[in-house]
Amino acid sequence: MTSAWARYYAASGEEPRQTLLDAADRFDAPGHAVDLGCGTGRDTLELLDRGWRVLAIDSEPDAIGALRERAGEDGRRRLATEVARMEDAIWPETLLVTSSYALPFCPPERFGGLWERIVGSLSSGARFCGQFFGDHDDWAPGDGDMTFQTRSEVERLLAAFVLERLSEVDEDGLTALGEPKHWHVLHVIARKR
Ligand SMILES: C[S@@+](CC[C@H](N)C(=O)[O-])C[C@H]1O[C@@H](n2cnc3c(N)ncnc32)[C@H](O)[C@@H]1O
Repeated sequence: MTSAWARYYAASGEEPRQTLLDAADRFDAPGHAVDLGCGTGRDTLELLDRGWRVLAIDSEPDAIGALRERAGEDGRRRLATEVARMEDAIWPETLLVTSSYALPFCPPERFGGLWERIVGSLSSGARFCGQFFGDHDDWAPGDGDMTFQTRSEVERLLAAFVLERLSEVDEDGLTALGEPKHWHVLHVIARKR
């Protein structure tokens, strides 16, 4: 793998995100999920293991290639993948949209359309889980290619949902590559009304 993300994939771990585990536990039975910015598949592989069908989308062809290999034959039967920018992608109605540490990489001018598509693909009782980056984050406002939200902006985005988790981390820490960074992350699990 040669992309700029390759070092991240190697360093960031393979265990599923807590938001995904908590969201998946809230369903009585597996269904169909969409993983936006899936990387090498830490969340997608967990969903496949639990019997879900998953459409996994990422702009990095190498990440999708690694995910397909890791899924194994049985997982691949329930896995569809797409190399695409999430802001350009389309997907069917689904029971769960997960986007772990990926939505902020959508450019601000495309974020509204992307979020509308996420909300529109979820019917009543379906869920969104993932992370938004807050306005205190060290990378905000960045080079204009990333999207950051205040807590009240996140709450407004989630108006059509019952909030099952909205927790905020606003503290100094390290990046996956071990560099110091102030993180401002809003962790969300939300059920469509
Ligand atoms: C920080 S990684 C997160 C990967 C994985 N979800 C996780 O939790 O470790 C962000 C991922 O989003 C992908 N990505 C970045 N911008 C994207 C975009 N506009 N559309 C689709 N994927 C994108 C990157 O290729 C990368 O795999």
